[in-house]
Amino acid sequence: MQTNDKIKIRSEALSVLFAGRDTTASLLTNVWFELSKRPDIWARLSEEVDTLNGEKPSYEELKNMKYLRAVLNESQRLHPIVPATGRYAREDTVLPLGGGDDEKSPILVKKGQLVMFVLYAMHRRKELYGEDADIFRPERWLDTEDQKGLRMGWDYLPFSGGPRVCIGRESLSSRTLLLSTQPLLITHLPYAHLFCIPLRARSWTLSCVLTHLKQFLCD
Ligand code: HEM
Repeated sequence: MQTNDKIKIRSEALSVLFAGRDTTASLLTNVWFELSKRPDIWARLSEEVDTLNGEKPSYEELKNMKYLRAVLNESQRLHPIVPATGRYAREDTVLPLGGGDDEKSPILVKKGQLVMFVLYAMHRRKELYGEDADIFRPERWLDTEDQKGLRMGWDYLPFSGGPRVCIGRESLSSRTLLLSTQPLLITHLPYAHLFCIPLRARSWTLSCVLTHLKQFLCD
């Protein structure tokens, strides 16, 4: 789709910028909150980041930082940034599960009805994640010799799913990975409050972008 409508362009640009800002900031805040309580995880993460020898990682190196990715996945499991969301049915439809006394039978959803799904609860279900579902344990995402680690599926939806899935999902992974390595590269002190630095930098970048957008599109 092409348009010269400045208001439309501005609205589209802002929706992407805002959708990506507070979500990323919240994820990083949650990660550092967990890290500040868990020196064991901090130590393992530091070990992985140390392999970068103080250099900024390349895209390939970021992709290979498996423990860091596991920490981010685990943070989004226990503390999903969008803890609940829903969909209105556009037409009468039948969902395969949820009906009957045991909720195992198909269920009718009529046009216009709202179906909510609560990720906060789903991500903590013991039948999906095991008895230690309430514990922050990044290792559950890692492959071991005996067993495969968790994979993203329909029981893990921090970015929602389907046609309205988060469009920042891919860019976010590398961006958040990069932002999370920065404080570890700067310092190894496990004080969570030190790590506001990248967030401030992000706010500053965002306000610059917004100022330029305003000038270009509204003057
Ligand atoms: C941890 C970070 C993020 C989380 C947890 C997150 C989560 C989500 C979720 C759950 C949705 C779907 C909402 C729904 O069900 O309707 C969504 C949509 C969206 N996200 Fe993200 N997001 C993140 C980062 C980003 C980033 C970095 C960007 C931009 C680069 C972005 C752009 C968008 C946009 C534009 C939509 C709307 C898509 C549509 O309605 O078609 N998000 N996000």
